[in-house]
Amino acid sequence: MKSNRDTESAKRTRRDFLATTGATLALLAPPLTAATQLQRTPRQSLGPFYPASLPLDSDNDLVVVRGQSGVATGIITHLSGRVSDERGRVIAGALVEIWQCNAFGRYHHPGDPRNAPMDENFQGYGRFTTGDDGHYRFRTIRPVPYPGRTPHIHFAVSGPGIESLVTQMYVAGEPDNARDGLLNSIHDARARARLSVELLPTAGARDELSARFDLVLAADGRLARAQPGLLEALRRI
Ligand SMILES: [Fe+2]
Repeated sequence: MKSNRDTESAKRTRRDFLATTGATLALLAPPLTAATQLQRTPRQSLGPFYPASLPLDSDNDLVVVRGQSGVATGIITHLSGRVSDERGRVIAGALVEIWQCNAFGRYHHPGDPRNAPMDENFQGYGRFTTGDDGHYRFRTIRPVPYPGRTPHIHFAVSGPGIESLVTQMYVAGEPDNARDGLLNSIHDARARARLSVELLPTAGARDELSARFDLVLAADGRLARAQPGLLEALRRI
């Protein structure tokens, strides 16, 4: 159980997450040499639990839901990273979306067949548009396993002029990783490692974790297919 003080503290920091960023997409000057070649983030399937409809609160703080008084059950986890192309050029104005099950293993989705409890204080989905530095950040919970899957967080990146990327982020060292069929559908161990992050204690915040997960998209030569936000694209199918 969280104390009232913890709840207030968690809610106060919410305003840190509400800052919006510029929506103009721009590939900024390369910060690295022309020879820079990053490895692209491997793709993974969308899965069945992308929100059927976006929640009213869809900001980048998933542990506090507008209109609810509590804080999500689970270990608060700060996720951040940079969106760039494989030449190291940061991508501003990219929409980064995440979705995951709650601490009991249940998604905010009418198609989730599990009987696990709902958590009215967990948003389950969040979105953030990268600023000029290409960075995103979310406050969420440490992902948990559910039957058949190792802990993971779903990610989608989209925006005008960039090729959409759908993938999943995993936790390094999780025992179920070796048995997860979706993760191991990537046969190259180095490519699998690019989807795994270390969860480290957050400095100055007791019992909270932090992780960095950079997303590397195809270079601009392959970015010709303009895509709107993922949800809009799915609605047209
Ligand atoms: Fe999932």
